[in-house]
Amino acid sequence: MSIPKHVAIIMDGNGRWASGRGLPRAAGHRAGAKTTHDVVEAASKGGVETLTLFAFSSENWKRPGAEVRLLMDLLRRTIRKELAGLEANNVRMHFIGDRTRFSAALAREMAASEERTRSNTGLQLVIAVDYGGRWDIVRRSRELAQACRDGELDPESIDEHSFNTGLSLGRFSAPDLFIRTGGERRISNFLLWDMAYSELYFSDELWPDFGPDRLYEALDWYAGRDRRFGRVASPAAQR
Ligand code: IPE
Ligand code: IPE
Ligand code: MG
Repeated sequence: MSIPKHVAIIMDGNGRWASGRGLPRAAGHRAGAKTTHDVVEAASKGGVETLTLFAFSSENWKRPGAEVRLLMDLLRRTIRKELAGLEANNVRMHFIGDRTRFSAALAREMAASEERTRSNTGLQLVIAVDYGGRWDIVRRSRELAQACRDGELDPESIDEHSFNTGLSLGRFSAPDLFIRTGGERRISNFLLWDMAYSELYFSDELWPDFGPDRLYEALDWYAGRDRRFGRVASPAAQR
């Protein structure tokens, strides 16, 4: 069975999960954190090499201040709580996104978790926080433009490979499988460049209800895809 090397997930539906139970949205985010724990474990057991999770988008700052604070605080506490277990399971942590708006306490926690898991060789866990696909592309473009202005780079030498190298996921292979829970069929400014050839899987399950079994269903679905990358179908798939 073909296992995706890199899985990227939009973990959506926490708010609706809570509202459906007459609970505050905060309860949905807390339940979602529990699902995240289980899915990380399952991905690692299932042989996934890189797992990228969308935790907070560039646009999520538009939410009410109290919810933004709650999400930031939950993230900080979750990193604290999970770090020892992740470390023990050989998971390496990476954060991608614009780090300039975080509190000093959160920024510290993020840097410390990356530092402490730096030599781990198991699952590469990438958490996207204050991340946007457009932000990433603009940031990389600015970096290259500056290098050209400083005479360090010839614009003619810029190609897809060199452009990709400096993107947030440049050190990883592109996501093979994209999953979005919560029923919406949209990308919401997630990995715009990187998902050019990802297989897209949408689940109506709300994130707190999505667990290891649902993840394995998605991996099974992925195993049945014929990825052509613009070529003609393989003989097996044409039959
Ligand atoms: C996903 O759940 C978590 C974040 C975006 C941080 P939502 O909070 O978007 O939940 P819904 O989509 O409102 O149900
Ligand atoms: C995408 O979900 C962002 C995260 C899950 C972090 P949203 O709930 O913000 O997306 P929209 O607003 O439905 O497009
Ligand atoms: Mg949502």
